[in-house]
Amino acid sequence: MFKRFVEWMDARIPMTKTWNIHLAQYPAPKNFNMWYVFGFLATIVLINQILTGVWLTMNYVPSADGAFASVEYIMRDVEYGWLLRYMHSTGASAFFVVVYLHMFRGMMYGSYQKPRELIWLFGMFIFLVLMAEAFMGYLLPWGQMSYWGAQVIISLFGAIPVIGDDLTLWIRGDYVISGATLNRFFALHVIALPLVLVILVFLHIVALHEVGSNNPDGIDTKKPKGSVPDEDKPKFKFHERFTNKKDIVDSIPFFPYYIIKDLFGFGVFLFLFCYVIFFNPEMGGFFLEPPNFEPANPLKTPEHIAPVWYFTPFYAILRAVPDKLFGVILMFAAIVFLALLPWLDRGRVRSIRYRSLLHKLNLGVFAISFVVLGYLGTQPATPVATIFAQIFTFLYFAFFGLLWFYSKREKTKPVPERVTSK
Ligand code: HEM
Repeated sequence: MFKRFVEWMDARIPMTKTWNIHLAQYPAPKNFNMWYVFGFLATIVLINQILTGVWLTMNYVPSADGAFASVEYIMRDVEYGWLLRYMHSTGASAFFVVVYLHMFRGMMYGSYQKPRELIWLFGMFIFLVLMAEAFMGYLLPWGQMSYWGAQVIISLFGAIPVIGDDLTLWIRGDYVISGATLNRFFALHVIALPLVLVILVFLHIVALHEVGSNNPDGIDTKKPKGSVPDEDKPKFKFHERFTNKKDIVDSIPFFPYYIIKDLFGFGVFLFLFCYVIFFNPEMGGFFLEPPNFEPANPLKTPEHIAPVWYFTPFYAILRAVPDKLFGVILMFAAIVFLALLPWLDRGRVRSIRYRSLLHKLNLGVFAISFVVLGYLGTQPATPVATIFAQIFTFLYFAFFGLLWFYSKREKTKPVPERVTSK
């Protein structure tokens, strides 16, 4: 019956064909390492956020009077409400852990280089929308940090000349952060931005499958014969491919090989995810900040306002600059430069394995600067911390300048013809 159902569907919509081309038989380079599980994990976390989000919305009250109490109600009285909420709050942090590692993989193996510029750009848009989504979600519990964090970030727009004040008013929908702000953030958080995110992820994958995946060697792989069936009926046969040596080229089908590998990565991820949810949901104040267990109070500013950890590298850059407007510009530049990587890197060799020592050092210093800035952003801005933030902000930006400078004349190692399985 199932076969007849599939045939009936296939006659009307390219179901099996799409499934085979984009999943089961997608030819993936056979040298993927563990850095390649993060795209899959990001997809899983996205699904987790959408599902737990829908169920949280069933009991959440989007009003300044009701929001905080409704979250407490979810935590205490709704059956498994605590689990839904912790899966969602931990999922937000997990999303950024996974996406940062996913981006770093792309930087190590030059996955942003030609012909994958568009995959990278869609990725950067995803990253921006993800940040907006997390920022708006954080206002919803209407705790002290929700309120004051939003206050600090929205007021940054006030630094923009001429339109600054009107713009902050327009974003808030009021002269201060109020129920009006909460309502619009709720609307954007639960439907508008997730929709944009899903569309962008779809385009990200479409662009990836058009040019094919990069790999840890950063070389172009030959596609196995018949791996992309041009007729409705797939031609791809495992036995033929693996008994006939001529056909064994650099790619293997996604199913079963990478499904198994990704499921292993998922298992490891699940251990860590469950550890946080069941034993350490606040993660020492990094995932859920202590002041957020107090209801928002517009008359009482918390002693130390810090955004959640995933924003802190950018927040540290902002605070490193004494001038507010220049700080805001530099903070945005930190993201714009990342988006411009495909054009700033003028090298032809993609993978870090075959690039110069200078490049390895440059990327290493960049990664360290990002982590140190992230730490500094969580700390109060003492004079010493500010000096360190300035040094590491400089190193963060130096990465892009240096890369542009040396990449054209870089002394690289010989690149292999075929993928290696290191
Ligand atoms: C919701 C967030 C995201 C999801 C669900 C997602 C999903 C995926 C998936 C499933 C893949 C293929 C598997 C893999 O190579 O790991 C992929 C590849 C890729 N992604 Fe993402 N991604 C996301 C965010 C990003 C971001 C923020 C960037 C960078 C700005 C990015 C850049 C790339 C690149 C360059 C590739 C190709 C990698 C290669 O072939 O070596 N992605 N993504």
